[in-house]
Amino acid sequence: MPAFSASAPGKVILFGEHAVVYGQPAIAVPVPEVTARAKVTADIQAPEGQILIQAPEVGKEALLSELPHNDPLAAAVRFILQKHEIERPPAFRLRINSTIPVAAGLGSGAAVSVAIIRSVSAFLGQLILDEEVSALAFEVEKLHHGTPSGIDNSIVTFAKPVYYVKGQHLEYFEVRKPFTLLIADSGIPSPTRAVVEDVRRGWEGNPKRYDAIFAAIGTLAPLARQAIEDGENEALGALMDANHTHLQELQVSSPALDRLVEAAREAGALGAKLSGGGRGGNMIALVTKGQEKEVAAALMEAGAVNTIVTSVQ
Ligand code: PMV
Repeated sequence: MPAFSASAPGKVILFGEHAVVYGQPAIAVPVPEVTARAKVTADIQAPEGQILIQAPEVGKEALLSELPHNDPLAAAVRFILQKHEIERPPAFRLRINSTIPVAAGLGSGAAVSVAIIRSVSAFLGQLILDEEVSALAFEVEKLHHGTPSGIDNSIVTFAKPVYYVKGQHLEYFEVRKPFTLLIADSGIPSPTRAVVEDVRRGWEGNPKRYDAIFAAIGTLAPLARQAIEDGENEALGALMDANHTHLQELQVSSPALDRLVEAAREAGALGAKLSGGGRGGNMIALVTKGQEKEVAAALMEAGAVNTIVTSVQ
């Protein structure tokens, strides 16, 4: 029985998280070292229309018809069936496996959605454009996040470094000199939705102050893009440090993340910041070639539970 598989990478936000929800530019890069995979197999013994979803890593095995409307895996399948106007597809089994840590700012939800949308489309024999994949994954993101900016589904679908402004076309840009990021997991799960809601409450309570912080963050992505296009990695590191300071002002950092950021800088990283929703999840450090091991050891010493090295090119 042929199987239809698709995968999507993890991602990190390099600049502009939170501010991007309020219209400021952001930069994100794919992390191909971690991936979500979805595999669809026809189930010829099951009745037409029956869809079994298996996601062993999160302990889920259920029929689509039993899952609530806001279950993100079920929603991805339902959106794709609706898109292709298929009410009763041939029975199939959908198996999802992912090495992307959940609720850690690495885009796990979006990557799982993209892998599901692509594999189910392929199984149904339907062509789907990347723009459509991203748009459907965005609909699923709304169930996770409430008010997502759209950056996660975009970066994970297109799997290239992107410059992103909510509601506008994605822009790709040249990476003059590949650079290395160390991603360290604080081990503290932190659902993005709750942090995004807290930031919104803060903004509603003090729009002037928050708008000023968002605007300050918004100046960084264009400068960072220029630095990447020019291969100026030291400048890039300094911009990451500045971004982290503004994220602290937004109160989305935490003592554990601050400790990791500090440890990376002390071990010689060119710059470091939290990445994604914050409070927990991951931080990133820009390191020079050959420095990875030393900085990774310092991060583990400072409380990280895992590190990933990725090269951005
Ligand atoms: O926690 P992550 O990596 O899914 O990223 C969230 C990024 C935010 O800017 C905080 C929210 C968003 O929708 O862009």
